[in-house]
Amino acid sequence: MSVTDPAFWRGKRVFITGHTGFKGSWLSLWLQQLGAQVKGFALAAPTNPSVFDLCDVANGMESEIADIRDLEVIRQSMASFAPEILMHMAAQPLVRHSYLDPVKTYQTNVLGTVNVLEAARSVDNLKVIINITTDKCYHNNEWEWGYRENDPMGGDDPYSSSKGCAELVSAAYKKSFFDLAEKPKRIATVRAGNVIGGGDWAEDRLIPDILKSFEKAESVKLRNPHAIRPWQHVLEPLSGYLMLVERLWNVGDDYLSAWNFGPHQESMVTVGVIAESMASQWGSGAKVELDAGNHPHEASILKLDISRAMSQLGWAPKLSLQQALGLIIEWHKAYIENRDMREITLKQIKVFNDE
Ligand SMILES: NC(=O)c1ccc[n+]([C@@H]2O[C@H](COP(=O)([O-])OP(=O)(O)OC[C@H]3O[C@@H](n4cnc5c(N)ncnc54)[C@H](O)[C@@H]3O)[C@@H](O)[C@H]2O)c1
Repeated sequence: MSVTDPAFWRGKRVFITGHTGFKGSWLSLWLQQLGAQVKGFALAAPTNPSVFDLCDVANGMESEIADIRDLEVIRQSMASFAPEILMHMAAQPLVRHSYLDPVKTYQTNVLGTVNVLEAARSVDNLKVIINITTDKCYHNNEWEWGYRENDPMGGDDPYSSSKGCAELVSAAYKKSFFDLAEKPKRIATVRAGNVIGGGDWAEDRLIPDILKSFEKAESVKLRNPHAIRPWQHVLEPLSGYLMLVERLWNVGDDYLSAWNFGPHQESMVTVGVIAESMASQWGSGAKVELDAGNHPHEASILKLDISRAMSQLGWAPKLSLQQALGLIIEWHKAYIENRDMREITLKQIKVFNDE
């Protein structure tokens, strides 16, 4: 059954911040495939190579390279496009980088979010807003139970705490402005865990590091092999965001506030299990070993409770962990073979969407 309703998306005006990034590029291609009119607003692609460049994402949408920390620029950009739907995902998304540059992390993730929502206030026809935060926005009790949407916000490192703040900013804008507007705007926040997928070259993320090592036939060194993370393919949370937009648009009130999008329990496995499963799917040349060095604190257990999305939205993860890892390896091998990555990525999206 199709994940999205193509009739809904055809011709819809969608404004995405962060479209040059990993998740933003996959989302932009998905929206292009659905026939939406898309405008992206972001700084240049954060990595080289990137899905954005390899898949020629800008070809098929309007793309503006600019900074969400500049209120006037984002205000003008949004006003001139006049979107009906806004999906905000521009951010400084790396925990380790947030220790190195906390000020920029807060400026981007907190004040940047204020600027985006402020710009949204004056767009009359804008009806639905999704603010993409993270599972790390929760106060982490390091316990074995999954976090629910009504658990307290927190964050021990600057990145996590900045995203907890972005949640609070959204809640305040909802109550102070969007609910009270002449034409109310429907806003929800979405919290997903570590996503994985073809073309993620961000620093300090496990899958890119593993693939880089496999490619060079070097041993993979794992920082934190026993850490459990809620692994999911990038298409899983994106499908949740798209379903949520449709529901917010068509129905409204019951779909406001926060949503978790995480994997089933069986995909919550350790970093070590991920590395070993990938090594066995990759084939010869793949080796895994542990790194015993000292590293900054990162929460070791983080699980999401996805009951709300499953029962109220009818969303559920579609791929098993092995299928998700298989898609990544298929994508990466196609990249190494210099194949048409736009075509490969659109094909993976289509199969996921339609089957
Ligand atoms: N990748 C994950 O595992 C993951 C997990 C949970 C949440 N998220 C969230 O999803 C969103 C996208 O993450 P991603 O993995 O695609 O990150 P990414 O680094 O690949 O992309 C970030 C995007 O934000 C843009 N950006 C950064 N600073 C900006 C600024 N000042 N002005 C305008 N644009 C700016 C970048 O240019 C890029 O387009 C982020 O909000 C992130 O916090 C990601």
